[in-house]
Amino acid sequence: MADRDARSGEDRLPTGIPAVLRWEEPPEGPVVVLLDQTRLPAEEVELVCTDAAALVEAIRSLAVRGAPLLGIAGAYGVALAAVRGFEVAEAAAALEGARPTAVNLAVGVRRARAAHQEALARTGDTRRAADAALAAARALHQEDAEASARMAGHGLRLLDELLPAGGHRVLTHCNTGSLVSGGEGTAFAVALAAHRAGRLRRLWVDETRPLLQGARLTAYEAARSDMAYTLLTDNAAGSLFAAGEVDAVLVGADRIAADGSVANKVGSYPLAVLARYHHVPFIVVAPVTTVDPDTPDGASIEVEQRPGYEVTEVTAPQVPVAGAGGGIPVAPLGTQAYNPAFDVTPPELVTAIVTEEGAVSPVTGEALAELCARSRQV
Ligand code: MRU
Repeated sequence: MADRDARSGEDRLPTGIPAVLRWEEPPEGPVVVLLDQTRLPAEEVELVCTDAAALVEAIRSLAVRGAPLLGIAGAYGVALAAVRGFEVAEAAAALEGARPTAVNLAVGVRRARAAHQEALARTGDTRRAADAALAAARALHQEDAEASARMAGHGLRLLDELLPAGGHRVLTHCNTGSLVSGGEGTAFAVALAAHRAGRLRRLWVDETRPLLQGARLTAYEAARSDMAYTLLTDNAAGSLFAAGEVDAVLVGADRIAADGSVANKVGSYPLAVLARYHHVPFIVVAPVTTVDPDTPDGASIEVEQRPGYEVTEVTAPQVPVAGAGGGIPVAPLGTQAYNPAFDVTPPELVTAIVTEEGAVSPVTGEALAELCARSRQV
């Protein structure tokens, strides 16, 4: 895996953010190029992955992250292994196991792997099988961009319905924009649509401890999109609700169980509790691929536990002083830390789940199953 400065010009998104993930075919052989999200917003650096192992490492370190993009990265990882002649089953297993909570990762990996297996069985030709895996990855990438645009439309309609007075003040958590998607994202895409329609008064951005996806990434995207945004510590959300400054909460999801329980970045559940207490809608925005019919309920969702040093140290990569994780220690040496990456919000606290197929509200297992069935028919 090699680093290089992100290119300027045609590879950038309309907001000026470098392309988040792309397939390149230089003379030395195909590669997957990722924008290294651990280095943002200080540096726009790309990682050039020449094999699936490099992608696995990028996924684990959160250089590439966010549920929809993990699915896309997983699919390209399978294609990379196939095109470069590596053992595809082994690469697929390693990619799928890189992070446990976002179901999109497994969905993306399995889709590319199935395309590879089907083409291999049909043609007996490894080159054509590799092409099929790559085509599956490209299709997923494109579909995610389309889903993102449709979620933005449905989500804005719902916001306008729930908040007819307009001038929405929206609180969001973690990062759910173009950095996690083939398009403009999930929850952030809805806020962006409201901004473009002149109906977003303010985006409240939770910093999202410990890895600061809100401060580093959502603030970076909001600034690039000229949105009115304000950053707050996660602890400040309660007083912001109490002051009547939040009209709606918009978050993404990493896995939605069959009963409508939502796993998302840790800190989402407390926001849902606050929102209910203050009579504010708590809206989840996610593509249908995030709904996992094989996970019956919230208790069955595997929540990733991250290393304690992410809590006991400030781990920004540009920080020069080294602790065990490479950052500045902010707790006594040897302190144990509780560091789940996600939490689970029960369906009764979720006002609506918005997908590319429309919104489900109230959130019930039956309504979700119906929506998924509709999406499979399309
Ligand atoms: O640990 P991360 O940064 O991958 O967590 C990302 C989130 O929790 C997002 O909110 C989620 O993936 C939804 S993004 C559309």
